[in-house]
Amino acid sequence: MDVKRLLAWYQANKRAMPWRGNPDAYAVWVSEIMLQQTRMETVYGYFTRFMEAFPTFQSLAAAPMQDVLKAWEGLGYYSRARNLKRAAESIRSLPDTIEGWRALPGVGPYTAAAIASVCLGVSAPVVDGNVSRVVARLCRLSGDTRGAPARERLAGWLQPFIDRSGQPGEFNQAMMELGETVCLPRSPKCSHCPFSQTCLAHAAGVEEQFPERRAKKTIPERHALAFRLSDGQGRFLLVQRPPDGLLGGLWELPNREAEKKTTAVSARPVFQARTGLSPTSVRYAGTVTHVFSHFRLQFHVYDVKASGKPGNGCVFALPDALPLATATRKALCL
Ligand code: ADE
Repeated sequence: MDVKRLLAWYQANKRAMPWRGNPDAYAVWVSEIMLQQTRMETVYGYFTRFMEAFPTFQSLAAAPMQDVLKAWEGLGYYSRARNLKRAAESIRSLPDTIEGWRALPGVGPYTAAAIASVCLGVSAPVVDGNVSRVVARLCRLSGDTRGAPARERLAGWLQPFIDRSGQPGEFNQAMMELGETVCLPRSPKCSHCPFSQTCLAHAAGVEEQFPERRAKKTIPERHALAFRLSDGQGRFLLVQRPPDGLLGGLWELPNREAEKKTTAVSARPVFQARTGLSPTSVRYAGTVTHVFSHFRLQFHVYDVKASGKPGNGCVFALPDALPLATATRKALCL
């Protein structure tokens, strides 16, 4: 691997990002957590707003969880936000070793390596999906590149190169950037790649066959009946999810898992049991789909008119004031 060419390519092609060239380790930390499951272009706007709302880790620690989730709304994988806030609460200063970073909730080996290399100059290679793809193609590596043992082997392969770079933060970001913008999963832009002369997969014209793919898992489909009830003044009946687990702490339309979409008539008792209200009218409004990492949710939405006092945690609230689950946000737009 020609490290010099890689760093020169990165200098010329890196995307300008508000945390790049910023010595603030908190900013780098926030950016790396956002980037764990989300593309750079999407993170940009979220990052800027998040840093305005919570400019220091102390301000994040002091903020209500609801405000943090609100700032994260739409980014998905909300345990990232909860862990980030909990980690901020648990520290008195930002860690100054890679082990210190690794010990924080939500910071795995790849994120710790990214932060410690950028902020502390630690020579620890990042091995994420993008970097694995670059290396798998460069070396025509067969077999798995995803599991922990494979990632350790890849890190071992990268170690002498990152050591030689003398700029571990730049090296890691260059590798990630190359994977994200040039060495794409499909139709890689090899003519723009600093490694095009030496890449074994490119030499053989088999770039797309690496990394070798596992059979694609099919994700199950789940159904829920969801109920849309307005007070006529912009407020909707909403309920908060438990603090931990899927979408923990977010707000959503009252809903119940079901076998499948049902008739408005059989949705009635479900509504009544879920909200404690007596429905006077129930009408099917439509279905929205939301895909999670491990299942696809069909959210069957019913418009309801009802009387009585809501129970079971259901309250009338203005949706825009709360961090909302995306399926609910979609359902409100139906
Ligand atoms: N993906 C995750 N972190 C990144 C970074 N710092 N630079 C480029 N891509 C990234």
